[in-house]
Amino acid sequence: MRAIIGTWKMSFDGVQETFGMLKTGAPAGEAVVRAVSRVEDEPAFHSVGYGGLPGKDGRVTLDAAFMDGRALRMGGVMSAENIRNPIQAAYRLCGRKTNCLLAGRGAEEFALQEGLAMRDMRTPESVKRWREAVAAQAEKELEAYRGHDTVCVLALDESGNMAAGTSTSGLFMKEPGRVGDTPIIGSGFYCDARFGAAAATGLGEDIMRGCLSYETVARMRNGESPQQACQHALDALAERKRELGEDAGSISLIALSPRGEFGAATTLPVFPFAAGNEETAALYIVETRDKTGFRRAEPEDLAAVD
Ligand code: GLY
Repeated sequence: MRAIIGTWKMSFDGVQETFGMLKTGAPAGEAVVRAVSRVEDEPAFHSVGYGGLPGKDGRVTLDAAFMDGRALRMGGVMSAENIRNPIQAAYRLCGRKTNCLLAGRGAEEFALQEGLAMRDMRTPESVKRWREAVAAQAEKELEAYRGHDTVCVLALDESGNMAAGTSTSGLFMKEPGRVGDTPIIGSGFYCDARFGAAAATGLGEDIMRGCLSYETVARMRNGESPQQACQHALDALAERKRELGEDAGSISLIALSPRGEFGAATTLPVFPFAAGNEETAALYIVETRDKTGFRRAEPEDLAAVD
């Protein structure tokens, strides 16, 4: 069985292309890196890679991670600037016994040493949005993006290996040095080829409180399906937050099993994702009010969401 799943509509083109690669024998890691790189390169997506919106200081800082589910190793970069494809730096760091998660200047120097492409990640559009926010002196609470946020991709290849990849530019107008869940193992992603893989998108500060990706994979280890594991992990954190007098927040989860079954859950009204595990890849949605699972997206579902 070969399978792949990615967050949001923005992952669809990459998931479709790399599902084809998996079907012709490509390793899971290669598929994940390619699918995430495609999103990083697209300036229309304002929460990932090139065109990602800046922090308060006008700088675009990037977080990304990669995990190999058979080796149980991860690599990651955080708060790094000017790396065209942070997922490729994370991939190259995966496998190191030490120094596998690099921040800031260390990550940038690593990317340079590896010969990875560097670029100014700001676009005229992202600079304009930042200038407007500064001029408005917006003091409103930072929110996860509606409809974009982190790109997360999980894949299963024909050898039975699994991989996970994540990438984001984090929150618009974040404080310098702020890092969310995306490069944090167990929170933004987790992958153990024996039991499955999971990844999260939404407000990192909330996702980290529940170590949601590890929790989802642990539930699969205990026999839950990917769909049950996502729903139960998310429900448990939302319930705890309610006990603390907070709302559920903005969190979505995806998961993939070693048998190629996938699942998703969300606190949003609707969360779209792309996945393939039979002949073709397609877009699906999961709705917070529907606890029974996901369904194929109809054009009218997708018109209202990014
Ligand atoms: N989930 C992305 C972030 O909070 O940075």
